[in-house]
Amino acid sequence: MLVTNDKIAFEKYHLYPTEGLLNDPNGLVYFNGQYHVFYQWNPKGCDHKYKVWGHFISKDLTTWERVETALEPSLENLDSAGIYSGAAYVHDNRLYVFYTGNVRNELGQSVKSSQMWAVSDDGIHFEKLGELFPHPKGFTKDVRDPMVWQGKNGHYFLILGAQHDNQVGDIIAYESTDFKNWTFRGSILGNQLQNVRGYMLECPGFIEVDGKQVLMFSPQGLTPDTDNHRYENIHNTGYVVGKFDESSATFNVMTDFEEVDKGFEFYAPQTMIAPDGRRIMWGWAGMMTPDREGSVPTIAANNWVHVLSLPRELHVNNQNKLLQRPISEILEVKQLTNFDHVSVGKYAIDTNTNWEIVLSDSSKLRRMDNKIIFERKQWESGQVETRQITGNVNQVILIIDNDVLELYTEDGLESMTSRWF
Ligand code: FRU
Repeated sequence: MLVTNDKIAFEKYHLYPTEGLLNDPNGLVYFNGQYHVFYQWNPKGCDHKYKVWGHFISKDLTTWERVETALEPSLENLDSAGIYSGAAYVHDNRLYVFYTGNVRNELGQSVKSSQMWAVSDDGIHFEKLGELFPHPKGFTKDVRDPMVWQGKNGHYFLILGAQHDNQVGDIIAYESTDFKNWTFRGSILGNQLQNVRGYMLECPGFIEVDGKQVLMFSPQGLTPDTDNHRYENIHNTGYVVGKFDESSATFNVMTDFEEVDKGFEFYAPQTMIAPDGRRIMWGWAGMMTPDREGSVPTIAANNWVHVLSLPRELHVNNQNKLLQRPISEILEVKQLTNFDHVSVGKYAIDTNTNWEIVLSDSSKLRRMDNKIIFERKQWESGQVETRQITGNVNQVILIIDNDVLELYTEDGLESMTSRWF
């Protein structure tokens, strides 16, 4: 079993909640001999009204243990309605996590966010350390999802997704020399990337892969570009490659914004570094309109909703493109040659001819020349919609789980993650 201490396995390869709603992966880290995957979890219902940090641990990245909730709301006027997304950072052999505290009013509306931290010595039990710094001026209450790293100059940088008072998304930075006192440094984007700010920008991540610096983020409210099959989901995740200048605390963007995954649901990814140096990413397979989310078939069946993506090893090639591939630990594939009645499994498809896989009455995957198209009849509306990848589709990896599939081109350039029913 993927989650060894669960009674029922709802998925074979993907991490899921046993009840309630799961969203973003959080605090991904290797600490004291174990991999930790925390995640946004509402144990009280299949909606977003309340969030804790759920927690999985693993020694080998192939089997997982579901352990006690790591953090839950407790602080009046700081995190009483939600422990929102954030990241982990190991400092002086202690595991620090940074998160956003959410507060709601009597009507249930989110009214305040605070940037918070907590610490643990065993990776399981956390002591909250309170608020990091006051809310920045010029921004609405939508400032969240801290991520921390140490710069080459030894200083610590903390970035956040933020909404300016004029309703434009941005990424802002704070800097600290002692890991405790933080100075506001402002936007790391300045005037760059105006076309992909949206009205809010969530879950920024700054990472180094193969010596390149990558900034990933999830803008909300981009206009769909249907001609080029971009930004077709309600909210989308993408990346740029560039250079972070530590003295000005700005990220100088060198590439266009590229979507990380072309399926229906991928969102809010985070990464960790494995002890062998690999950069491993998980995302949420998850992002959908409220109507669709409210009627995901697993809710009526078993009172839970959403999964995490598979862990993917990342690279960046010489053209500054992100490459993704499921980690080797989980990648024993078998060659798929018969496309009839394909069920749950991990497959390699190596062929230059077209093919079609009918997964159900509602979901179908087909290769047409240099494209692979996933066609899905949406469960909430009956409308048929597609997502597609274009590229070297003669060699692909296809992982089909009970109700989620992931498709990768073997060259790592394209991926597509979607629920199917
Ligand atoms: C992204 C997100 C984050 C936030 C969290 C709340 O999906 O909206 O910005 O911290 O989910 O669950």
